[in-house]
Amino acid sequence: MTASNGTQGQEKPWGEFVTVDIEEGIAWITLNRPDKRNAINPGIVYEMVAVLDAMEEDDEVKVLVVTGAGDAFSAGQDLKEYFRIPDAGPPLARERLYRANAAWQWRRMMNFPKPTIAMVNGWCFGGAFQVLIGCDLAVAADDATFGLSEINWGIIPAGIVTKSVAEVMSQRDALYYIMTGETFDGKRAKELGLVNISVPREELRERTRTLANTLKEKNPYVLRSAKTAYHHVKSMSWDAALDYLMAKSDQTKFRDPEKGDQAGMKQFLDDKSYRPGLQTYKRES
Ligand code: COA
Repeated sequence: MTASNGTQGQEKPWGEFVTVDIEEGIAWITLNRPDKRNAINPGIVYEMVAVLDAMEEDDEVKVLVVTGAGDAFSAGQDLKEYFRIPDAGPPLARERLYRANAAWQWRRMMNFPKPTIAMVNGWCFGGAFQVLIGCDLAVAADDATFGLSEINWGIIPAGIVTKSVAEVMSQRDALYYIMTGETFDGKRAKELGLVNISVPREELRERTRTLANTLKEKNPYVLRSAKTAYHHVKSMSWDAALDYLMAKSDQTKFRDPEKGDQAGMKQFLDDKSYRPGLQTYKRES
């Protein structure tokens, strides 16, 4: 296991509020304020921005897993350091903080060029939903506790949380949890479509690792195109989506450094060495 800094020996711009352990191509990124239930303060925001930049550049890293230290995934935005103090400070500093927060929780995570998995190990509230939904996939512990608690302390789920929730939950479910603030567990999160898998706590890390290893086997360039295409077509008309997808497919084939489609077709049609319905073609690298 290595602790990557992605900064060629310079002092790394994270480590106090976020830790990174790279293990066999998987970057385990841990929000690290367990005493504050990993509530997202400016320290987490700015360290995550730096971490994501470095993870993008680090060729050793194939898949990102985001989780929390101790018994929390994250208790959401820090009520003191993210709200009370910036609200009372210079407006431009607050704007900068909010921009940086949106950058990592939404724009960077959702469009990250490598696959991302949220491993929800415990408390997951408010702004943490944005981190969760920003990841491509999610695995939860059965006994993790989720809640859109904003209503309980007098705000709406802002940042971009309500928009995210509306993307993955039905209207009935989204409004129910937004309006009641009621908590639910990992099994219910799976039913709601908020996570892909919910497992007993003791299996959480291994199940997450297995999923990450599955993603590691796939052609990374095609994975990146597939998720980019998914996010874009959701807001397109059918005609525009068809045209875009055909263009994106051609671009992907043209630019793919390992020419996966050629290898895949040859191995199936000529060599008869694998079945694409059941496994990934044999990659050289
Ligand atoms: N913002 C700021 N501080 C937070 C926090 C948050 N979102 N969540 C937890 N903390 C702090 C607490 O103030 C406390 O600090 P202290 O030790 O200095 O008093 C510490 O973390 C531990 O919290 P505590 O409430 O004692 O832990 P718990 O295990 O009993 O309960 C929670 C955990 C997550 C249920 C509870 O802390 C909570 O409700 N947090 C707020 C969740 C929320 O509404 N988030 C939405 C924000 S958008």
